[in-house]
Amino acid sequence: MEGGNDSVEVRASGNGGGDGNGGGDAVRLEGVSKRFGDFTAVDDIDLSIPKGEFFSLLGPSGCGKTTTLRMLAGFEVPTEGRILLEGEPVEDVPPYKRNVNMVFQSYALFGHLDVENNVAFGLKRQKVAKDEIHRRVGEALELVSLSSRAKARPSELSGGQRQRVALARALVNRPAVLLLDEPLGALDLKLRKQMQVELKQIQREVGITFVYVTHDQEEALSMSDRIAVMSDGRVAQCGAPEEVYEHPAEEFVAGFIGISNLLEGVVEDAGDDGKVRIATGDRIPAPIPDDCSRGDTVQLSVRPEKIAIDDEVEEGMVRLEGTIEDRVYLGVSTQITVGLGGGARLVALEQATYRASADDRWEPGMTVALGWHPENCLVLR
Ligand SMILES: Nc1ncnc2c1ncn2[C@@H]1O[C@H](COP(=O)(O)OP(=O)(O)O)[C@@H](O)[C@H]1O
Ligand SMILES: [Mg+2]
Repeated sequence: MEGGNDSVEVRASGNGGGDGNGGGDAVRLEGVSKRFGDFTAVDDIDLSIPKGEFFSLLGPSGCGKTTTLRMLAGFEVPTEGRILLEGEPVEDVPPYKRNVNMVFQSYALFGHLDVENNVAFGLKRQKVAKDEIHRRVGEALELVSLSSRAKARPSELSGGQRQRVALARALVNRPAVLLLDEPLGALDLKLRKQMQVELKQIQREVGITFVYVTHDQEEALSMSDRIAVMSDGRVAQCGAPEEVYEHPAEEFVAGFIGISNLLEGVVEDAGDDGKVRIATGDRIPAPIPDDCSRGDTVQLSVRPEKIAIDDEVEEGMVRLEGTIEDRVYLGVSTQITVGLGGGARLVALEQATYRASADDRWEPGMTVALGWHPENCLVLR
């Protein structure tokens, strides 16, 4: 494994030392699959992650996120395909020689060491000079705003602070890629939101490529440059947050990224100015994708926040009437569920304004009009 030939000494090279191949990609997966026995956990994944990107793997539990991350780290060997880090294939590179580091949900700190020594641990083992250790640990602690707690034990820190120590420890030897497996999963909502902002700031500051695993769509949408949405071991869609949110490539992605508001229907006219007949009998104008034709069954998807309610429904919008079935007060908004007949229903969000709180107009049983601009209606097959 340590062979004396010109094999892959990725760790030392920092910038991939003139490999020529792989361009600016920090990470590349080419046709990567992982099977455990006859179960396929990761199914033929292709991904390219440019240097400096905040990239997320998003998907429900069991879809293969951790397995993908573990293959990047070298803890699992792909059954098929190739992994390149900074342009170099790494199948023969053991985990400790890969220029990557991993942060887990459980902080895995040493309880008997103080913060400073937790962060210094790896550098000491690599026999880095004392002065340099001191300097780099100082920088890393500053980065995560923990300089004042250098002498504290992990047991004296809050959950958020412990995760920052783990982050400092992972960043202290400046890996090319940082792998983060649901690092904020153990924190309560308020702290998680705060740490999301901090993590993103830290990533911008250090410019290290982050591969971030989460099952929380909001987290992925708010932090990432790009997201790969995974389902059953495959990548269902890969793109910028806006792209994945506004133009989900398939029903799974639409459903997973927030409320999908699906209405089933049959295409009656194809093309950009197409028409879809839904269960209520209404013909709904919608842009029909090129690969759909007359007679196809499709799902219409309208985001709750794109739906106008009652007096907000304007000229030029699709207009439907229905009965309020349910109302959920969410603070800054109220979510109302409207039954349209024939089993079809839509969820709309009414925002609070300076004039009125969000929930003071709607009661279950009321008849309301809903509307949306046809271009805000997505057609999924
Ligand atoms: N070592 C293993 N042996 C057998 N099955 C495994 C192993 N590791 C993971 N799996 C299975 O592979 C699937 C994907 O797991 P994982 O990558 O941990 O998913 P995620 O992180 O997205 O929740 C799951 O069904 C899991 O049970
Ligand atoms: Mg996992």
